[in-house]
Amino acid sequence: MEVWFFSFVLVFGISFASAENQDLVDTCSLSNDETEGFIEVYIGECVTFQCTPDENDTVQWELNGTEISNDTHYNINATSGTLTIQEVRSNDTGNYTCDLESTFLYVKIPNITIIGQYTNLTVGSSVSINCTTVPSIPGSEVQWDPPSTNSDSNELIIDPVMLSHNNNTFTCEVSSDLLAMSLTESITISVLDTSVSFVTVQSLSSYVIGDNVSIVCTISLTNAIGPDVSSLVVNWFKDDEPITTDDIITSDSLLTFNSTLTLTQVSPTDAGVYTCNASINGSNIFPSIKTLIVTQTYYWDIMQQCSV
Ligand SMILES: *[C@@H]1O[C@H](CO)[C@@H](O)[C@H](O)[C@H]1NC(C)=O
Ligand SMILES: *[C@@H]1O[C@H](CO)[C@@H](O)[C@H](O)[C@H]1NC(C)=O
Ligand SMILES: *[C@@H]1O[C@H](CO)[C@@H](O)[C@H](O)[C@H]1NC(C)=O
Ligand SMILES: *[C@@H]1O[C@H](CO)[C@@H](O)[C@H](O)[C@H]1NC(C)=O
Ligand SMILES: *[C@@H]1O[C@H](CO)[C@@H](O)[C@H](O)[C@H]1NC(C)=O
Ligand SMILES: *[C@@H]1O[C@H](CO)[C@@H](O)[C@H](O)[C@H]1NC(C)=O
Ligand SMILES: *[C@@H]1O[C@H](CO)[C@@H](O)[C@H](O)[C@H]1NC(C)=O
Ligand SMILES: *[C@@H]1O[C@H](CO)[C@@H](O)[C@H](O)[C@H]1NC(C)=O
Ligand SMILES: *[C@@H]1O[C@H](CO)[C@@H](O)[C@H](O)[C@H]1NC(C)=O
Ligand SMILES: *[C@@H]1O[C@H](CO)[C@@H](O)[C@H](O)[C@H]1NC(C)=O
Ligand SMILES: *[C@@H]1O[C@H](CO)[C@@H](O)[C@H](O)[C@H]1NC(C)=O
Ligand SMILES: *[C@@H]1O[C@H](CO)[C@@H](O)[C@H](O)[C@H]1NC(C)=O
Repeated sequence: MEVWFFSFVLVFGISFASAENQDLVDTCSLSNDETEGFIEVYIGECVTFQCTPDENDTVQWELNGTEISNDTHYNINATSGTLTIQEVRSNDTGNYTCDLESTFLYVKIPNITIIGQYTNLTVGSSVSINCTTVPSIPGSEVQWDPPSTNSDSNELIIDPVMLSHNNNTFTCEVSSDLLAMSLTESITISVLDTSVSFVTVQSLSSYVIGDNVSIVCTISLTNAIGPDVSSLVVNWFKDDEPITTDDIITSDSLLTFNSTLTLTQVSPTDAGVYTCNASINGSNIFPSIKTLIVTQTYYWDIMQQCSV
């Protein structure tokens, strides 16, 4: 009668494929965690099964009844009676038998975890969204589709957030030689809608010829934007013709912005009707009321009037 001893050995933690890890039994040190012939490990972990035959027998291992041959993946040590899988693959799940004894190995595959906010984003903010698995899969490659501009492919950076990002879908794909199929997880970005709610032009009531005149256009938004304010587009007009300015947009809250038109040393040719309009990304343009600059003998009068 032959007597077989069967036991199982597992190492928790992840072993990384590298040249110096070829001494398989050594890196998979002993701990008996088998319960009722069933064991769960995460993909990429190391597992050693042990089967001690009588001195005159040779060990034969089977997976689901099919003979396992010694190769780079399954390391069989006839002396110690061990079968070692250095980095467990997703398709290593199955019933491992050595003569009369068996252990069912179940390979767990971690879910993708998305870290970072991607809903209710503010226009003009910058977001970082990370894609990971816990535990990580050795030698895995993480990719975002559409790809991230960031060199670290785990991290998706959107900077600045624009209204056009609303409802965009990004998919994270984790691939590895250990996986039969890549893992994927998709997220849908949502951006808080914002638009211009009010535009007013403010100025003094009169100016002396030669004065430096500042006309301030104040823009109110329905929802905050920033710190990047490039989505806010402000245009100035004189007598309905566009004029270029080197105006600076300033803000003391992320809801209200000023665009200042400066006329240095005003002369009679500056007389006219000034307006500004504003929009987020050039759509739904919101016009201001008109500001009329009239010339009088020695003064510029500024009056505000609503006109059609
Ligand atoms: C193993 O084989 C040797 C010689 O072939 C024999 O003398 C010995 O009894 C065998 N041992 C067992 C346990 O069968
Ligand atoms: C299995 O292969 C390894 C090298 O890949 C070798 O060291 C070992 O002796 C082999 N085991 C058997 C039982 O042939
Ligand atoms: C096989 O196991 C024996 C006993 O544990 C050990 O001395 C030997 O180095 C192992 N061989 C390999 C190739 O790992
Ligand atoms: C072995 O059988 C189990 C279920 O009985 C199955 O899930 C697994 O995929 C099989 N493995 C192989 C390598 O055939
Ligand atoms: C594993 O295989 C053995 C021997 O073929 C069998 O007795 C046992 O029921 C199997 N276990 C599972 C979980 O399939
Ligand atoms: C992955 O997610 C599914 C469904 O949410 C859950 O049933 C499963 O337990 C998770 N797997 C792990 C390894 O956390
Ligand atoms: C994503 O990872 C990068 C570095 O890898 C880190 O700087 C950043 O804060 C992380 N983002 C989140 C939302 O955790
Ligand atoms: C987004 O904001 C709205 C209102 O501000 C709130 O009702 C909703 O729960 C938020 N959604 C998420 C996912 O935070
Ligand atoms: C975004 O998706 C939601 C729900 O699918 C839809 O109600 C909404 O109109 C979409 N918004 C845009 C700007 O496409
Ligand atoms: C398991 O997957 C690897 C690649 O991940 C493949 O080379 C191998 O043939 C597969 N084995 C089985 C039994 O399907
Ligand atoms: C108007 O601005 C010009 C140059 O920006 C400056 O030289 C001049 O002194 C200013 N005039 C008044 C009245 O402030
Ligand atoms: C915007 O303009 C208004 C009116 O001229 C002024 O009261 C406010 O301080 C200005 N805010 C900024 C940030 O310039």
